[in-house]
Amino acid sequence: MIHIKNKSEIEKMYAACQLAAEVLERTGELVKAGISTQELNDFADEYTIKKGARSAPLNYKGFPRSICTSINEVVCHGIPDPAQILRDGDIINIDITVVLDGFHGDTSRTFAVGPISESTTRLVQDTQKAMYHGIAAIQPGNRVLDIGAAIDNYLTPLGYGIVRDLTGHGIGREFHEKPAIPHYKNQEARDRLKAGMTFTVEPMVNAGTWEVDFDQNDGWTVRTKDRRLSAQFEHTCLVTKDGYRILTRL
Ligand code: MF3
Ligand code: CO
Ligand code: CO
Repeated sequence: MIHIKNKSEIEKMYAACQLAAEVLERTGELVKAGISTQELNDFADEYTIKKGARSAPLNYKGFPRSICTSINEVVCHGIPDPAQILRDGDIINIDITVVLDGFHGDTSRTFAVGPISESTTRLVQDTQKAMYHGIAAIQPGNRVLDIGAAIDNYLTPLGYGIVRDLTGHGIGREFHEKPAIPHYKNQEARDRLKAGMTFTVEPMVNAGTWEVDFDQNDGWTVRTKDRRLSAQFEHTCLVTKDGYRILTRL
């Protein structure tokens, strides 16, 4: 079932989402060649705890860290590691989810480490634009599938691969609630959007094929099958009576 949040639940969602956005902003300021993904993890986790919240990924289905850090060909769910050091020319998605007062806020961005190539810049910018095209399709009466269709219509002519195996998701008291939000055209996503629904829009966009591999050793890391680059942006959104509100926008 899809949870419809009432006024007080929406206030709590907003507070959690604003904290997630703040943690992402502050953690992103540390992105620089030479820093390890573990240092980013530890900064984000301490900041979250200081604000009276906790990091949702830690121990979630056995995930071993507090944030996800996904570099270059890693699509998502990269595990922070002290031995993994950022280098100029890398792109890194930092994905922050906090739980505050019982509610989840989930947001991510892809950052450049120093100068990156023109085609990589385009991938990152096009991915962010695609997310906003998807979000712009949110209004009561539209269907979930309208979000993915808007993203697909924007990206597919540009030649990118849109990841299909992972989706956006409802969010609230649970990290992942119904409905799933595909980022590609999927005629099965027929649920109607209703005021009070909260969910993420988080397209993962590949330079090459949409196909991905799941790491068999760590059980988490998702990579592009062709090992070309992947970018991602994520916001948590609320359906309002006349459109939407981006809860993770600072
Ligand atoms: N934050 C991710 C999402 O956007 C989920 C991470 S699950 C974890 O849905 F276990 F890897 F943390
Ligand atoms: Co999410
Ligand atoms: Co996320």
